[in-house]
Amino acid sequence: MNEIDRHPDYKKMYGIAVNIFNKKHHFSSGPFDETFFTMRVFESAKNIIKLIPEHVKTEEILSATLFHDIGKSKLKIKKIFLKNEWADNFREEWHKHPIISAKMAKPILKKLGHSEEFVKNVCYLIENHDKRDNFTGKKSLELQIVQDADYLGDTGFAGFIRPFLWGGKFKSSVIKQLSYMKINENSRLNLSKINLSISKELLKKNAEIENNLKKSILELIDSELL
Ligand SMILES: [Fe+2]
Repeated sequence: MNEIDRHPDYKKMYGIAVNIFNKKHHFSSGPFDETFFTMRVFESAKNIIKLIPEHVKTEEILSATLFHDIGKSKLKIKKIFLKNEWADNFREEWHKHPIISAKMAKPILKKLGHSEEFVKNVCYLIENHDKRDNFTGKKSLELQIVQDADYLGDTGFAGFIRPFLWGGKFKSSVIKQLSYMKINENSRLNLSKINLSISKELLKKNAEIENNLKKSILELIDSELL
C-alpha cells in the first residue's frame, strides 16, 4: 500500500467519472443520471462503513463506488433504450457494464499512482458489484458493502424523484407517473437484495421516506376528474 492508496483523491476520481458520463446524455441527466447516482453510492458506502464495527478497506470500497458504473458509457444504447421505453432484452447489454467498468478503471487508477494490489482489489469490487445472487464463493465484507451501497443509492429521496425523471425523458405525463408510483408502492423494499443487517435497516428507513413522500404526492391525483 502506498501513500496515494492511503489517501485517494476521491474528488479527482469523481471528476473523471463525471467527465466520462457527460459525454453520454443518457447517463448525465434524467433517470439514469450517473453523475448523481455515483455520488449517492459513494455517500451510502461511507454511511455503512461508519455504522459497522468491523475494520474494512475503506479506500478501496470508496474508490470502487466512484468507478463502478463507468462502463455504462460504453454500452450500445440502441440495445437498451427504444424511443420511449426499454428495448427487448435490454438486460443482456446492461449486464456487461461491471466488466467494462473494471477494464476502464484499471488504467485510470494506475495513472493516479495507486499500487498494483490496490488497483487489483478495486477492480475486483467493480467487476462483481452486480453479482448479488449469482456470486460463487464467499463475498468479502468490502464487496458486500459496495453491493449494498449500490442498492441504497437509488432509494429514499433518490428513488422518489426517479419516476418524474423517467417521465421527462420518455414523454410520460405526471399523472401517469404518479399512477405508476401507486401501483409499485413498496417495490424498493426488497430486503433479499441486501447483504448486511445494518444496510437492511438503512433500506427500511429510506423506504419509509420514499413511501411517506409518495403518500403525500398521491393526494394530488385524488380527483373526481380521473
Ligand atoms: Fe452497476
